[in-house]
Amino acid sequence: MKRACILFTITTVCILAGVVCHAQNANDTTGRKWWKEAVVYQIYPRSFKDNNGDGIGDLKGIISKLDYIKSLGIDVVWLNPIYSSPNDDNGYDVSDYRNIMKDFGTMDDFDALLKGMHARGIKLVMDLVVNHSSDEHEWFKQSRSSRNNPYREYYHWWNAEQGTPPYRYSLFDVNHDAWRYDSLTNAYYLHYFSRKQPDLNWENPRVRNEVHGIMKFWADKGIDGFRLDAFQFAAKDTTFPAFPRGFEKNFTQYYAMQGNLHGYLQEMNREVLSKYNVMSVAEGAGNTFEDAHNLVDANRNELNMAYAFEGADIAKPEGYSLLHLKQVFTKWDSAFASKGWLSVFLANHDQARLVSRYGNDKPEFRAVSSKMLTTFLMTMRGTPYYYNGDELGMTNAGFTTIDDYRDVQTLNEYQRQKNIGGDLPKYLQRIAFESRDNGRTPFQWNGDKNAGFTTGTPWIKVNSNYKTINAAQQEKDRNSTLNYFRRVVKLRKDNLALVYGKYTLLDAQNPDAYIYTRELDGKKLLIMLNFRDKPVDTQTGIDVSKANVLIGNYEHPSKDGKLLPYEAVVYELK
Ligand code: NOJ
Repeated sequence: MKRACILFTITTVCILAGVVCHAQNANDTTGRKWWKEAVVYQIYPRSFKDNNGDGIGDLKGIISKLDYIKSLGIDVVWLNPIYSSPNDDNGYDVSDYRNIMKDFGTMDDFDALLKGMHARGIKLVMDLVVNHSSDEHEWFKQSRSSRNNPYREYYHWWNAEQGTPPYRYSLFDVNHDAWRYDSLTNAYYLHYFSRKQPDLNWENPRVRNEVHGIMKFWADKGIDGFRLDAFQFAAKDTTFPAFPRGFEKNFTQYYAMQGNLHGYLQEMNREVLSKYNVMSVAEGAGNTFEDAHNLVDANRNELNMAYAFEGADIAKPEGYSLLHLKQVFTKWDSAFASKGWLSVFLANHDQARLVSRYGNDKPEFRAVSSKMLTTFLMTMRGTPYYYNGDELGMTNAGFTTIDDYRDVQTLNEYQRQKNIGGDLPKYLQRIAFESRDNGRTPFQWNGDKNAGFTTGTPWIKVNSNYKTINAAQQEKDRNSTLNYFRRVVKLRKDNLALVYGKYTLLDAQNPDAYIYTRELDGKKLLIMLNFRDKPVDTQTGIDVSKANVLIGNYEHPSKDGKLLPYEAVVYELK
């Protein structure tokens, strides 16, 4: 089997194709927006690069890697939260929205980072975590101090005299219980996530006003967008009706997109978003297409795009059905074919590693399957969100003991399993596949100690495979996953058809290959992807023998419709 991946990138052809494409389509593509054409690269600051040797990634660390980031060809960086936080949930528990987390540096470092990005033509999108704050935020300290405190209504309280509050499911709590009793005022507060993340009360106009002020603070600094964390949960049914048994499995249907969410977003748009050249993206796309459209339909003036979880939730330890994956991505593409805009992703800081879940991280298939998945993400309609480290084909952590894990969700569920007499070895097996910590191990810069991430002791173990998988080594290899990533990003940038072009699924019932065309103004690209570790036949009815290969992850890309293991090819059809 030939696996000496992609010597075949006819850069000149790509460049020429890009020029032609832009010239042809520039006037034909209505509704062009920078954020639609962008490739977003997500940086998990805690694990990216440590500058001061305390074992935790920081802003100066990111600054020291700006040239690397630029070299990827991406347009936008989405930075996970960097605000002051006691770090119960690695920054998703904010104690001061206008300050920088001490572990990460200072506001001067932030200003330098933003300047450095802008100087390189990179935009910066910040996480906006306002479904909840930290319990160490001043608002909450005030709120819990007395029932009459002016901040009381910033959060959701249930007075104990009313009896036990109606059960609500918490995603991160040891008991799965989202109400936490606080003896100080003999009342319960609501937390959909950990007990250190009390939910803010969006019905209170003062809360909304505070959030607008925070957004303006960052937008005035010049940032380029907001990723609205867990925002679907912000609007609740505060009559707190009882839910049917077993609702936990489907809890978003009861929790997400309730109340006046769209009203809040329209207000946010009016007060903040419309006044700046910023993009906005919601984490989650609601429960139905209608929800999703209502969030991102340009005429409604709410958000620019949303990302649906359905695709990223498909991979399971026992494997997944490619037919299912195709059906989900095809369905979401159709939902946004004529209005609204989608984000495309399969991995982020809340998921285990891309190649370990959707590809194959065995040494013989890791690189080729990583490239195949990257090709998929960069050739779909919608803005691709790509998670740091996936460009190297970084794999799951390989942790075998609970002591190696750091994530609040993983640890609390372990404790819960212990409390209820659950099967702990089975749980360890499950989290080895799916814990969020798999995607949070330090970025593998080189083969030096701690993968060049830190000179200190890393806050979470470095993956033991860093000597074979690291950026320094991949820089030297023109066929590395890293260099493939750069080429395929460039391919997307050079071909507007990959951004706006119509998507058509071919050979739909093929259980092993994902094949589709992208078409815009007479330009037609064919993307063929083999998701299996064996050769597969395909039935497209298209003769590719004379088609122009724009990129492929094998030295000799398929010319007869048979795909080698994990083969990916993008053809331009005549
Ligand atoms: C979604 C974020 O992506 C995740 O990391 C976090 O734990 C929850 N929201 C709570 O903020």
